[in-house]
Amino acid sequence: MLEEYPLDRVFTLIEPGPALLVATAEGRKKNIMTITWSMAMSFAPTFGIVTGPWNHSFDVLMKTRECVVAVPGVDLIDAVIGIGTCSGTDTDKFKKFSLTAEKAQSVKSPLIAECLFNLECQVADYVDAHGIIILECVRAWENRKRTERRTFHAVGDGIFIADGEKFDRRREMASKLPAL
Ligand SMILES: Cc1cc2nc3c(=O)[nH]c(=O)nc-3n(C[C@H](O)[C@H](O)[C@H](O)COP(=O)(O)O)c2cc1C
Repeated sequence: MLEEYPLDRVFTLIEPGPALLVATAEGRKKNIMTITWSMAMSFAPTFGIVTGPWNHSFDVLMKTRECVVAVPGVDLIDAVIGIGTCSGTDTDKFKKFSLTAEKAQSVKSPLIAECLFNLECQVADYVDAHGIIILECVRAWENRKRTERRTFHAVGDGIFIADGEKFDRRREMASKLPAL
């Protein structure tokens, strides 16, 4: 069901700043958190997320040095908000939000089958002063079976915007873009 997605296109998933899910595993215990503070950093499959010790996932990320970053479609908006408003310390979020954990290939953290994309990541660096975790994606997957393809974006005050009109300026920007 999941098809491998080219690593050189991973930055195009992060650059628009969609709401993300970060899946971790501590032994057999799987967890998920919501992240909307993320940052593309280059054309490489390396990007930043911002989090800290107030989240259970942060401790696990620091211990295991890996995670899966999943890109949900807007059909999952209520699950994404629910996941971001409860804690893995007392809740099995896969169960509570009816999500399917699938085995990843390069990390022990689970893939989230219902998401549009899943990025298997290793922690490359941590900028303590700003809570920035730099992730390097080592393998990526796409679920082409999902019919809702729109991702969504947090405004920051409880309002969200789904993907809308697209503008193709690839020709005009050719000198600034890698050949994909
Ligand atoms: C829409 C939304 C966006 C969020 N974005 C972030 C974020 O970028 N960074 C962060 O540290 N927490 C963010 N959170 C909060 C965490 O997802 C939340 O604290 C979560 O319960 C942590 O789960 P855990 O304790 O099981 O790791 C967000 C929550 C919501 C609802």
